[in-house]
Amino acid sequence: MKKLMAANWKMHKTTEEAFDTAEELVALCGAALPEDREVLVIPPFTALRRTGQALAGNPRFLLGGQNFYPEEQGAFTGEISPAMLLDVGCAFVLAGHSERRHVLGETDEMVGRKVAFGLERGLSVILCVGERIDERRAGQVEQVLRTQLDKGLAGVDRGVDPERLVVAYEPVWAIGTGEVAGPQEIVQAHAFVRQELVRAFGEAGREMRIQYGGSVKPDNAAEIIHLDNVDGVLVGGASLRADSFSRIVLAD
Ligand code: PGA
Repeated sequence: MKKLMAANWKMHKTTEEAFDTAEELVALCGAALPEDREVLVIPPFTALRRTGQALAGNPRFLLGGQNFYPEEQGAFTGEISPAMLLDVGCAFVLAGHSERRHVLGETDEMVGRKVAFGLERGLSVILCVGERIDERRAGQVEQVLRTQLDKGLAGVDRGVDPERLVVAYEPVWAIGTGEVAGPQEIVQAHAFVRQELVRAFGEAGREMRIQYGGSVKPDNAAEIIHLDNVDGVLVGGASLRADSFSRIVLAD
């Protein structure tokens, strides 16, 4: 399975800044990109089309949206639909990122609606899960992950194409803090996510990718990417510059 190396630009970059970064990224790692890797760039909505222009012609460079609303269309001011993301060239979308859960108040149930609807409408979906520091200290990591996975995957067709469903394990305390989870913590959490995916989807659960996210940087990417059950990374801060993200993409 191809490792999915994703750049989540969050609320950063104007259209031209996004275009320039994406273009530089393709120049820096396009030719050198190992066969077993895919690059996913997730800019803000306003920069999607322009970013897609910079990635065009490179089939292993994909475009993704950061969020959407689980309805076809309608009176949902400020929201965006899967059809709109597909229209500007998105293949992927995030659901349940910790900033949406903890800053914007998204519930497990809403995340579940999004995962099922996004898949149904033709997008590939990255379901983000992860515990807060108080939950880790209280020994509740597996309990939190199980709940987020159960509810996040509740409406998903059990016959879903395993390539189209990705889980990103992102411990909340490691996102944007410079504090990366240790190899042991990552291996344990990913093994648990794998077990839950197999429980839910049978053998297909072994073919679903599990990304790690949370303070991935050029100097720790190589170690992380080779850990058991780590099938890619989801990168925020260190993905904003092409030179830094290209070193993560090519890390070996
Ligand atoms: P970070 O963010 O790399 O800045 O920690 C990761 C994420 O939020 O996906």
